[in-house]
Amino acid sequence: MSTYIDDLNWRYATKKFDINKEVSSKDLQTLLEAIQLTASSYGLQPYEIIIIKDAALREELKAHSWNQTQITDASEVIVFANKTHITSSYVDSYLQDIAQTRGLKTEDLQGLKGMVESTIMKLNPEDQNTWAAKQAYIALGNLLSAAANLRIDTCPMEGFDAAKYDQLLNLKERGLTTAVIVTIGYRSEDDQTQFAAKVRKSKEDLINKL
Ligand SMILES: Cc1cc2nc3c(=O)[nH]c(=O)nc-3n(C[C@H](O)[C@H](O)[C@H](O)COP(=O)(O)O)c2cc1C
Repeated sequence: MSTYIDDLNWRYATKKFDINKEVSSKDLQTLLEAIQLTASSYGLQPYEIIIIKDAALREELKAHSWNQTQITDASEVIVFANKTHITSSYVDSYLQDIAQTRGLKTEDLQGLKGMVESTIMKLNPEDQNTWAAKQAYIALGNLLSAAANLRIDTCPMEGFDAAKYDQLLNLKERGLTTAVIVTIGYRSEDDQTQFAAKVRKSKEDLINKL
């Protein structure tokens, strides 16, 4: 049985996907569940994901993604779009969810609302956006590991024009902006990157003990 560390050693940022291989819908559901179950600050999950299958749209997005072929060749393209600001009504609807799920009263959750108001909602718009994007990146990390566990390849990607993505996906109107994207599928046999040894900081350089 492979260990978690085996999974992480197996994965690499895939440069060339096999265009003939598709992720099964069962595996895709597992990956989406990994995103859904990801931890987030206060549990607010300030993001949505967009799964893009449409070939013409993908071709267009590739042109705004440094022409990286993963955008058109991977089985799935997933966009992590974070909320640009956290509104009072968004927090209220989250409190209602908690109350309903756990059989509580929303009045009893006002302490949590107060904390969100005095921290996240106090941030200036830029910092609020950064906070929300950070939450989306945690989901990305979780997805990469979940995919590796299923021996499904991924490439996390920041090499794209976020403003163009926002425009093509009509995100601004929905209070969202593209944080990061990931392409998912199966490596091409001739993707040479899969044979390259991992380059990582030594534990001595990475880990400090006080
Ligand atoms: C947030 C993020 C953005 C990245 N953007 C790209 C990208 O646009 N294109 C690409 O080919 N690789 C991209 N990478 C892959 C990294 O270069 C790669 O993860 C790193 O070099 C470590 O190699 P490994 O993941 O293969 O172990 C990105 C990785 C992360 C985490």
